[in-house]
Amino acid sequence: MTVRELQDEIIRLKKEKNICILAHAYQRQDIWEVADYIGDSFGLSKQATQTDADTVIMCGVRFMAETVKMLSPQKSVFLANYAAGCPMADQMDSDIIMQMKEELPDHTVVAYINTTAQLKTVCDVCVTSSSAVKIIRNIPNNKILFIPDCNLGDWIAKQIPEKSIQLVRGGCPTHLRITVRDIDRIRANYPEAKFLVHPECHPTVVAQADLVGSTTEIMSYAEKGADCTYIIGTENSIVEHLQFKCPDKLFIPLSKDCVCHNMQATTLMDVYRCLKGSGGEEIKMSDDLIAASRKCIDEMLRLGQ
Ligand code: 13P
Ligand code: SF4
Repeated sequence: MTVRELQDEIIRLKKEKNICILAHAYQRQDIWEVADYIGDSFGLSKQATQTDADTVIMCGVRFMAETVKMLSPQKSVFLANYAAGCPMADQMDSDIIMQMKEELPDHTVVAYINTTAQLKTVCDVCVTSSSAVKIIRNIPNNKILFIPDCNLGDWIAKQIPEKSIQLVRGGCPTHLRITVRDIDRIRANYPEAKFLVHPECHPTVVAQADLVGSTTEIMSYAEKGADCTYIIGTENSIVEHLQFKCPDKLFIPLSKDCVCHNMQATTLMDVYRCLKGSGGEEIKMSDDLIAASRKCIDEMLRLGQ
């Protein structure tokens, strides 16, 4: 089978079975081409509430599939590749947060959506990189405990100086591979390029950016921008997608090491097997876990309107 034949078969099967394929922007190009919706974490959460398909296949990482299940418990939700987790989501457990809540009882606990369903049960509000500033501004309480990404938290705190934001030590191992030395090296070769980064990068990297944004915001800026050359400081799949969308512009990865092996774990063949019923993992969550964990997702959608 060729890639194109496999894609045609996937498109035929998903229509025949009324299955919706959601793909995070970090997925591979061949998966993008068969997806019904591609977006950042916030866009995927909203889309999960809108599709009328009976079954959803998530091409992304585990917490994204869990979010879809929380928002649509009546649907069958599959993670296309069972091994696709998020190391940041696994960094913290609910016991640590319960202890911090005792120490900071007057704080609202805001969790980056890159957290497990279990952890979400002890948090008040979720945010994504594209919605965080707006949502935290809309929280009446000025005292915030933000978990688990201290880089994203640092960037949010700088946008909302009127709030007191407590951070914890956690973050994305993929984005942490980018250093200021990478910027110096690339800028020496492309001095005119616009520099776009994800807020999961270290603050010293973020401080030099022309745009700090989610995957969708980075792509939209680069697609619409009048400039010809862009340095991309996020997972390197975005460089390839932008190059496909805008072949006349030039996109340069800030670091060749910014590859998320979890996001890249899912293959087109995984999607095919999942559609055929012989692959992927169905997300199973108890009613109690869904009820307790989706409260902070519902708050995110309400405050992010
Ligand atoms: P966004 O989808 O919010 O840009 O986040 C990127 C990410 O790291 C998802 O795991
Ligand atoms: Fe998790 Fe980072 Fe990979 Fe996103 S890029 S899935 S935050 S490890």
